[in-house]
Amino acid sequence: MTTDAGYDVAIIGGGVIGLATAWRAAQRGLTVTVIDPEPAGGASYASAGMLAPATEAAYGEERLLQLELASKERYPAFVAELEELTETGAGYRDQGTLEVAFDADDLAVLNDRYRFQQSLGIRLERLTGRECRKLEPMLAPSVRGGLFAPEDHSIDPRLLTRALLVAAERSGVRLLRARAERLLAADDRTVGVRVDGVEIAAPHVVLAAGCWSGEIDGVPSDASPPVRPVKGQILRLRTPVPFLTYTVRGVVQGSAVYVVPRADGEVVVGATQEEMGYDTRVTAGGVYGLLRDASAVLPGITELELTETRVGLRPGSPDNAPVIGATTLPGLYVATGHHRSGVLLTPVTADAMAEIIVTGRPPREVADFSPRRFERFEGARA
Ligand code: GLY
Repeated sequence: MTTDAGYDVAIIGGGVIGLATAWRAAQRGLTVTVIDPEPAGGASYASAGMLAPATEAAYGEERLLQLELASKERYPAFVAELEELTETGAGYRDQGTLEVAFDADDLAVLNDRYRFQQSLGIRLERLTGRECRKLEPMLAPSVRGGLFAPEDHSIDPRLLTRALLVAAERSGVRLLRARAERLLAADDRTVGVRVDGVEIAAPHVVLAAGCWSGEIDGVPSDASPPVRPVKGQILRLRTPVPFLTYTVRGVVQGSAVYVVPRADGEVVVGATQEEMGYDTRVTAGGVYGLLRDASAVLPGITELELTETRVGLRPGSPDNAPVIGATTLPGLYVATGHHRSGVLLTPVTADAMAEIIVTGRPPREVADFSPRRFERFEGARA
C-alpha cells in the first residue's frame, strides 16, 4: 500500500460546502485536500441558488431560520472576498423575491405565511395582484396577490462553485479527482482516507459528500450522518431578452414553484421534492408539473427555450436541518444535511467547520446542529 505525504484535513466532497470549508480551513493555515471524482457537481450543480430565508421559512424550523439569516448576512462579504481573490463573478443578485398566489385559496396560504413570518420579525410587504404585476409585468392577470421579500436574493451556484474551486486551489488546497474508498481509523481516532489504493494521512476528515455522506466505508455506524436523498427535478430555460427582474415563487392550487432569473438570460424553474431514494430520472410528470405551475403565474414562460432538465439529490437529515460538527469518532466531522438550503448555508457552514477543526469548539450559531443530536435515534435502533 502506497501512502501520500498527508494533510491536516481531508474533505470528502467537492460541492459548495466541501470547497468553501476547504478554502476557509486553508485560510486558517491548515494543509487541505478535497477528494471528489466530480468536483463542483452533485446537488450544487443542479441547485437554483436561491438565498431565501424569508420565503422558505417554515413552521417548526425557527432555529434553522436563525442559521439561515446568519449565513445570508455573511453573503455579500463572502462573495466580494471570493470575487476579489479569483477575479471571477459568482452571479450574486440582490433584487429580492416576489411570492404570488394563483387563486383565492393560494392567497389564504400566503396570508397565513405572512402572519407567521411577521411573528418571526421577517421583513415582508403584502401586495395586491395589481402591485405584483407592476413589479413584474410578465405575471398573469389572474394573480391574486403576493408578498415581496426584499432580502431574499440569489446566486448562480455554477459560477459560485467554479469560483470556490479557484479560491481553494489559490489558497493551496489540493484537489483529488477520485472517489474516497474508505475512512482510515486507528486507536479509535481518524488517521486518513484511502483513495485509489493510496492511503492519504489526515488527522481531520470532513464528510461533505451531500446525500452520499453516510455511505463511506470504514465510518463507524454511530458516527455516520443519517442523511437521505431528496430528489428535486429542475429545469433551465433561456431567454434572449430579460424575462424577470425578481425571483418569482408561486403557490398554484396548493403546490409551490419558483422561477429564478439570471443576468445572462438563464431562467431556472424548480423544483420537485420527492422521496425516491437515489433515483435520478427526469420524468414527464415532473417536467409537466413544473411548467404547468410556472406558466399559471408566468404564461410567457412557455415561449422560452428549454435548455436543460436535471435531477439533484438534496441531503435530508431526520429533522431536515443540517448536520455540522464533530462526530463520535475523534478527528471525524460532518458538514451535510443542508437539504433545501445548501447554497444559502455555505458561508456559515464553512466558517463553522474551520473553527471547529482549529479550536475543537463549535461556534454558537451551529451548536444546535451537531451530529450528536441524533444519538437518541441510534439508541432506538440498537
Ligand atoms: N431551495 C430550493 C429547493 O431545494 O428546491
